[in-house]
Amino acid sequence: MDIKGCVALVTGANRGIGRAFVDGLLAAGAAKIYAGMREPQAQHDPRVQAIRLDVTDQGQVAEAAATCGDVTLLINNAGVLTASPLIGAASMDGARTEMEVNYFGALAMCRAFAPLLGRNGGGAIVNILSVASFTTGGKFGSYSASKMAALGLTRGVRIELRAQGTLVVGVHPGFVDTDMVANVTAAKISPAQVVERTLAAIAAGEEEVLPDERSVGIRQTLREDPYALERSAQAAWDALTIAGKP
Ligand SMILES: NC(=O)c1ccc[n+]([C@@H]2O[C@H](COP(=O)([O-])OP(=O)(O)OC[C@H]3O[C@@H](n4cnc5c(N)ncnc54)[C@H](OP(=O)(O)O)[C@@H]3O)[C@@H](O)[C@H]2O)c1
Repeated sequence: MDIKGCVALVTGANRGIGRAFVDGLLAAGAAKIYAGMREPQAQHDPRVQAIRLDVTDQGQVAEAAATCGDVTLLINNAGVLTASPLIGAASMDGARTEMEVNYFGALAMCRAFAPLLGRNGGGAIVNILSVASFTTGGKFGSYSASKMAALGLTRGVRIELRAQGTLVVGVHPGFVDTDMVANVTAAKISPAQVVERTLAAIAAGEEEVLPDERSVGIRQTLREDPYALERSAQAAWDALTIAGKP
């Protein structure tokens, strides 16, 4: 699909990768961008319209679908990472929050916007997933489970919407330089790189985006030896727990 002239809605558009999508879409010639934010902020480009949108609020999701009827490109970017292990966390609160935002939030948006996209010629849905959709790891246990669920959602929605011509894209970044992983010291790519690779994939009709070396490597390992990733996650967890944290 053509980015030039499209009407996009980006969730979590106030910062990080979502903000970079707004900038990238403007540069690529989008006609209009609805910038979904929990707290709407004034926008400086007349093509960008901030809308109040907490993806866990069914009323706000319905309101967005009612007022943004011309959308042709939905970018489900909003996400949370609570860095909770599955067993070691003090409660299930972090796991529930991640499922509410990363899985149910994205599902609610897909359900609300699928009929509009169909009416508008098919268009595209982009779900910002993660390498954590392919592999788990101790401290990211509940986040990974939510992103694996979101990968299942992406694949299922793709099947249901193929007949109406909607391209459904899953994006699997490694570490990206945003607030979410501010305390991670590993190499990170820029949000702009995620956006650039994703917009190229949409234009080419590709369904999976591996925007960096880490994601390419993890996907390749998964093909060659599905259990290798679990073994390295185990080794990393053992090293952490032997060191006495978390
Ligand atoms: N950074 C990484 O290394 C990385 C890697 C792989 C995938 N991802 C994914 O990329 C996406 C964007 O993350 P980021 O790195 O840009 O993180 P970020 O800088 O922490 O931004 C997260 C965004 O999601 C919004 N958000 C959170 N809960 C929401 C809700 N209930 N409704 C609507 N918006 C909500 C936040 O809004 P507020 O400002 O109101 O909190 C913020 O705009 C997420 O899905 C994340 O899982 C990130």
